[in-house]
Amino acid sequence: MAIDPPLFPGLPVVGSLLDLRNDRAELLRRAVLLHPDVVRFQVGPMRITLVAAPELIGHVLVKHAKRYTKRTRLHQMLRDGLGDGLLTAEGESWARQRRLAQPVFRADAVGVFADEITRDAEALAEQFAAATTVDATAALHRLTMRISGRVLLGAAFEADADRLYAAFDEAVRCTTARILSPLTLPLRFPTPRNLRLQRAVGTLDVFLRDVIRERRARPVVADDLLGRLLVAHDGADSFGEQELVDQLKTVFIAGFESTATMLQWLLWELGQHPELQERVREEARSTRDPEALVVTRRVVNEALRRHPAGWAGVRTCEEDDEVGGYRIPGNSMVFVSPYATHHLPGHWPDPLKFDPDRFLPEPSAQRHRHAFLPFLDGPRACAGDNLAMLELVLITAAIVARVRFTSGPDVLMPAPVVTLRPSAPVRLQIVH
Ligand code: HEM
Repeated sequence: MAIDPPLFPGLPVVGSLLDLRNDRAELLRRAVLLHPDVVRFQVGPMRITLVAAPELIGHVLVKHAKRYTKRTRLHQMLRDGLGDGLLTAEGESWARQRRLAQPVFRADAVGVFADEITRDAEALAEQFAAATTVDATAALHRLTMRISGRVLLGAAFEADADRLYAAFDEAVRCTTARILSPLTLPLRFPTPRNLRLQRAVGTLDVFLRDVIRERRARPVVADDLLGRLLVAHDGADSFGEQELVDQLKTVFIAGFESTATMLQWLLWELGQHPELQERVREEARSTRDPEALVVTRRVVNEALRRHPAGWAGVRTCEEDDEVGGYRIPGNSMVFVSPYATHHLPGHWPDPLKFDPDRFLPEPSAQRHRHAFLPFLDGPRACAGDNLAMLELVLITAAIVARVRFTSGPDVLMPAPVVTLRPSAPVRLQIVH
């Protein structure tokens, strides 16, 4: 007989609502210190179950993935901003998009962009080297946006970069405010916030329509995501125009936002740990081969553990289920949180310490496969993990090879909404 998972104590009536609104990732981390397998939160009338134990996560993400869907309020808000692309779609529409996109993201397909990524990162490093203080947040977003544009859309858009970044930033702000607001009017209501969101999304849509029109004007080559979608579009498996725009918008944004967030955490940690920075620098000055950058890769993995940009997978459990002997009612919310699981003391001793040696071959081999899951797992795992890892390793190495820096602020907390952003802009003080 399944029993209810232990309840994490909250206030009467509102339950954990206030904590969830203010300090979501930390709430999950504190809860799994008490209940490391499965824990339940009551948020007003809503019940949320967090499945944290690595041994149980496969049930939700892999074995019974069909039972755990993205039919959630969060995904509706994301759909309002992004349209119905790969990240938010369900069922047959999702499966078709994933089939089409998959080959673009294979390791060998993204590997051909390694030199370009390094060149772009080196150009940014030169700018850093000429400065005394830099605002890494904006600079890294622009860099990953440019790379996403090139890899996914085959488009160089230097001239549009500022305008697009402003529209993207506005769309994120509005979507964040809508997610956090207890009462959100549907997008069709012309509230000031909805209008701002529509305007920002309109800017991105117009840009993407132009990119599509330009590509159609020349012979289509299916060598990037846009090329593949256009070939499919013109063949039997056809997409409507808005569907095409939505898919590009989703992957374009999913592609640069999480990577930029991770790079901020990475540079901040390296700025706080000068001895580690020296080790990365020594390696980065000796090779540009991403496979040989093993110290850098361990630092990247530790940043993905400690500050996973994709901090929670949110699902609706569609039918009554049982996980690890605990009852999960149908139509209730279920979280799998890389942030919570990556801080389980039973799997990660001294979990708040930044220690890349956790990723040496021996401790890695001894760990459960789902103790480390920055890209989640199963059919809805991150489609862009190969590209993300390539970017993180190459960009970190290119910057550290060229500039020595310290970072601020000294205390940086996670501010999780869609991604686990740092609570303040990351500043680098360049050491000359
Ligand atoms: C370090 C950077 C990244 C991290 C930590 C990350 C993490 C994640 C996570 C955790 C998910 C699952 C979300 C969920 O199920 O709720 C996801 C999904 C996704 N990611 Fe990433 N991601 C990163 C970079 C990228 C890049 C570079 C791309 C593409 C260029 C990308 C494209 C996608 C797509 C399309 C999905 C949805 C897949 C589906 O549902 O079929 N991501 N990502």
